[in-house]
Amino acid sequence: MRSFSLPKKTVDNRGILRSEKLFAIMKRENHIQNTIDFIHKHFKGESSGHDWWHIYRVWQLAKQLAEEEKADLFLVEMAALLHDLDDWKLSSKSDNEPKQAARWMNEIDVEPIARQRILTIIEEVSFKGAGVKTNPSSLEAQVVQDADRLDAIGAIGIARTFAYGGRKNRLIYDPAVKPEMHDSFSDYQKSTAPTINHFYEKLLLLKDRMNTSSGRQIAEERHHFMEDFLTQFFHEWNASKELLTN
Ligand code: NI
Repeated sequence: MRSFSLPKKTVDNRGILRSEKLFAIMKRENHIQNTIDFIHKHFKGESSGHDWWHIYRVWQLAKQLAEEEKADLFLVEMAALLHDLDDWKLSSKSDNEPKQAARWMNEIDVEPIARQRILTIIEEVSFKGAGVKTNPSSLEAQVVQDADRLDAIGAIGIARTFAYGGRKNRLIYDPAVKPEMHDSFSDYQKSTAPTINHFYEKLLLLKDRMNTSSGRQIAEERHHFMEDFLTQFFHEWNASKELLTN
């Protein structure tokens, strides 16, 4: 972990307030840098589409949205970097309580108020089923949720969805299994349906569930790309069915 000490030149009698502010900014930058190192190490070999580069893209997108929406950049960056550390999809536990994120922020000594706000954002980010309403309670949570959802759609979203399905031993598609609109989080968690169903059960719904107008704009193009992909997918699927029956 990188250590941090107050540079001498920031301490002077005439500018104490300015020095304190500067000190706080530098401390926050140090927290972000340490968290990047920690998360990079933790996620770099992940093979279900939740690898370091997913975290990196969400972090970058979240920063962009935070600037456009005027959200608190530190809270957004920290929550974006830590958002998948305790995700139920990546562990055996069924709750969403961000215990590892809490432990990490305790270790690097993030101020308690900021720490609590970051943990709340992380808890609110995750998708819990088509019929389950999740309303982020702060602008910062809205921004991080939008950034995470934007990385779930479009070309990258398609690639990640099939990576995840493969990791979970799911079929690509089975015409006999129809998509389901889950109205409870536990039903959604238990689903073992083919990967194509996930487009109808989650991914195509995300465009209309964006929280911010900046997020909505980016979602538009990515959504259309998924629709084109599905049109082509079924075009090819049905062509092979015709070959079989002829
Ligand atoms: Ni994520």
